[in-house]
Amino acid sequence: MKTPVKRSATSVYPIANKRTEEGDLVYPTVLRMNATPVYRFLSLIASRLSEGETVRRRSILDCGCGGTVPPLAIFAEQGMEAVGVDVSERQLQQARGFVERAGLDIRLRRADMRDLPFPDASFDYVYEHYSMCHLSRTDTAQAVSEMRRVAKPGGLAFLGVISTESWPPSSYGEEWASGERWMVEDGDEVRHSFFSDAQSDRLVADWDVLLKEKAVLHVGGEDLSEADWAALRAEAPVPRSAEEWAAEYERRTDYVRYVHTYYALKKPA
Ligand SMILES: C[S@@+](CC[C@H](N)C(=O)[O-])C[C@H]1O[C@@H](n2cnc3c(N)ncnc32)[C@H](O)[C@@H]1O
Repeated sequence: MKTPVKRSATSVYPIANKRTEEGDLVYPTVLRMNATPVYRFLSLIASRLSEGETVRRRSILDCGCGGTVPPLAIFAEQGMEAVGVDVSERQLQQARGFVERAGLDIRLRRADMRDLPFPDASFDYVYEHYSMCHLSRTDTAQAVSEMRRVAKPGGLAFLGVISTESWPPSSYGEEWASGERWMVEDGDEVRHSFFSDAQSDRLVADWDVLLKEKAVLHVGGEDLSEADWAALRAEAPVPRSAEEWAAEYERRTDYVRYVHTYYALKKPA
């Protein structure tokens, strides 16, 4: 029998159930952004298991594992040996708090995904979500190479980059290098890197690509005023006159989007 994927994201992420007095979800994006790729990867893993095989005691590494809703929780619930690294002690503390409250067995340690402190071929599975996107494009390539090094031959990986289809670029701050932007969030400098399809395909060229998928994680634009919209004309996907751009205002929510390119990968045996 194939390994069933147990429980729903809301059982592992209690925060995802938190509602306002009106009954609206407080964090509706938690499920879409954090849990969907986990289940996507778990389904792919399950589809490649032989009859009778399970993921119990298979090892998984999460690169950039910190934060209040650690994806590793879901992998650990499947019985996997879960290991996570993160550079930020603050983010690790949040993840540790969650892991303790949930009573899960997860090894969390401080480390940089560009220089993973594990021998070659250590893990059956490697996972990364919404963490590598904070690295420069050069460092992203280094992190992907480290993930490949620590994956076992035949091992699987899941990772994502922000697509250049995300719009508008200025919502990620100022461009400081080609394809890289920075902004200040809660007093911290936050960087985001962007990849076209051809660029992200090159990043994973040493792996077998099992799945490549565009995920629109967020659409928006409703709140833009006509003046805000006019100011975005300089970033229009194709050049538009002021009149043409103003006429697009009604369709602004067709433009504003946050797109990731996800890959499920196999390290050649
Ligand atoms: C937006 S959070 C995402 C956390 C988690 N992956 C999730 O999906 O909820 C990004 C995380 O990446 C971590 N990070 C950034 N650069 C890193 C690096 N070079 N090595 C390891 N972790 C890193 C940050 O500290 C942060 O915890």
